[in-house]
Amino acid sequence: MCGIIAITRNPEAAYEQPLAGILIDCLERLEYRGYDSAGIALLVGGMENDGADDAAIWRIRAAVSKQSLKELRKHAPSAPGPPRSDSAGIGHTRWATHGRPSEQNAHPHLDCTGNIAVVHNGIVENWRELAEELSRSGHELASETDSELIAHLIEDELRMDTSTQLHGIEATRRALQRITGSFAIAVLDTRLDGGLVVARRLSPLVVGMGGGMCMAASDLPALLGLSGNYYVLEDGEIAELTPESITAQDLDGHARTLHPIHVSWDIEAAQKSGYDDFMGKELHEQPAAVMDTLLGRFVSDGKLALDETRITDDELREVDKVFIVGCGSSFHSGLVVKHALEHWTRIPTEIDISSEFRYRDPILSSSSLVIGVSQSGETMDTLQAIHLARQLNAKVLAVSNVVDSSITRQSDGVLYTRAGPEIGVAATKTFSTQIVALQMLALYIAQLRGILYNDETSLIMDQLRDLPRLMRHALDRDEAVKSVAEDIAGQRDLFYIGRNTGYPVALEGALKMKEIAYLRAEAYPAGELKHGPIALIEPGTVVLAIATKGRLQKKMHANISEVKSRGAKVIAVANDGDTSTAALADHVLYVPETVSLLAPVVDVIPLQLLAYHVARFRGCDVDRPRNLAKTVTVE
Ligand code: F6R
Repeated sequence: MCGIIAITRNPEAAYEQPLAGILIDCLERLEYRGYDSAGIALLVGGMENDGADDAAIWRIRAAVSKQSLKELRKHAPSAPGPPRSDSAGIGHTRWATHGRPSEQNAHPHLDCTGNIAVVHNGIVENWRELAEELSRSGHELASETDSELIAHLIEDELRMDTSTQLHGIEATRRALQRITGSFAIAVLDTRLDGGLVVARRLSPLVVGMGGGMCMAASDLPALLGLSGNYYVLEDGEIAELTPESITAQDLDGHARTLHPIHVSWDIEAAQKSGYDDFMGKELHEQPAAVMDTLLGRFVSDGKLALDETRITDDELREVDKVFIVGCGSSFHSGLVVKHALEHWTRIPTEIDISSEFRYRDPILSSSSLVIGVSQSGETMDTLQAIHLARQLNAKVLAVSNVVDSSITRQSDGVLYTRAGPEIGVAATKTFSTQIVALQMLALYIAQLRGILYNDETSLIMDQLRDLPRLMRHALDRDEAVKSVAEDIAGQRDLFYIGRNTGYPVALEGALKMKEIAYLRAEAYPAGELKHGPIALIEPGTVVLAIATKGRLQKKMHANISEVKSRGAKVIAVANDGDTSTAALADHVLYVPETVSLLAPVVDVIPLQLLAYHVARFRGCDVDRPRNLAKTVTVE
């Protein structure tokens, strides 16, 4: 998830503010989309009165986490350039997915000639194939990113079509047809005489017009205050921007009409995309985050594309025991995936809270695989756990949301979640993306060991790819969850029960309720209730039961009956149309059905929403809960 901005303005007008400053201001308002590096590119020179065209691209980039924009400001022009020179520019603030955060990997990226600059948000799924193809035809790639390929693809189209002088938008449109995956892009091209090309597929992009300028950005906050008229570029559309006009077409070249959008947000609301807080926004970003995490991971030859790996396939084949270590929600995602890992790979899998792992004298060897799961990649307990694992010769693989974080540098292999920055302290989209990343890893190991055939892996990948759709349906029930939240907001104690993969869902639901709503919420494996905790159930006690379909659903029904008969008020998470669970429960939070091993990312959604609404009914600050920090760098 990155932020992009593009502006073109009248080259004849005299301006007080240099375009570089405006672009950086806009990027500042997009920093919540990423902040590990940033850059801008401006058109300089241009057609002179004598007809000579000396247009060129001036570019500046910086990679200083959270300080990159300050760096850019230091070096950007502080006064407007001469007419023509200061009329078009693009900018980018990055959240690394392909290639570590560095100046070399920061956008904008240039083609070989330096006449085309591109900023990109999204994932080029077929980047390996394209990179090989472009290298073979003589392109020199200067970065490790998938994004840079887009500049070279445009250049390639121009090179291939020397006869007909491709119209500006046409080369980009053809280049984008060669890409699979997602993109929102802005292209600055010296041939466009101050115009810009923007396009999107699956990644967001809005365009605006007004005050002698046209502009585009990955999100509205960047444009607020610059333009009075906003339009959404629809999925699969490309547009050419001049200072006075926006002309759109689809990626097949058919003309399209832009539809205006009405915006009543102020800048703060816009940064939260209209949500009152970041947690609400991030909760709803989960389907997109899961989709991004899945995109392009299983490449054409059936291999899983790990982001960095110093572990060979042979070593993965030889693994005889897996250990997953993590804290809080990251521990819970490991608990969810232990089931799939053992089921698909038949490798015994242990799961440990990081701070316990390091002091329990674990038995590890060179055939052990230790997976460190950490959203931030900086959690001290998890870092210490993987240090120990490396000392004991185990292979270490990190699953993290932050490129080049400490855990990724200290591991043998890395699989990134692509959730974008998570600003709310409570983990939401990083939890669901950790699960799907770990599930892909499990599938890959199963395939390597010959336990699953490629076609079985493909079938499960299809089911994984369907999760964002199901998650969206679960999120659509927000209002129904809110009314249940209102009903229980005055409670003090809550119990969460589940079995199998439903148990970590219960743990995660209870953790959300504890940390943001400050309610005592305890989670138990439902079968364990009768061994003690059931003594706490009394008339009116609220019990959340994860009772979605699966081989243990009947047992969950029996557990629901046990607590009901002691007077509990039961709120069940159940699948759409499940009348048997509805008959037992006081309230049902409905979710769409999927296969049990994959269901947790869908089933957890109503519990996240419930904690969120209860916290808000109780007047709690959901983004900054008391006593908690987003990154825990102490033991
Ligand atoms: C819960 C939460 C924490 C983190 C834990 C680990 O909502 O945010 O429990 O999951 O502190 O953090 P990472 O994943 O950064 O290692």
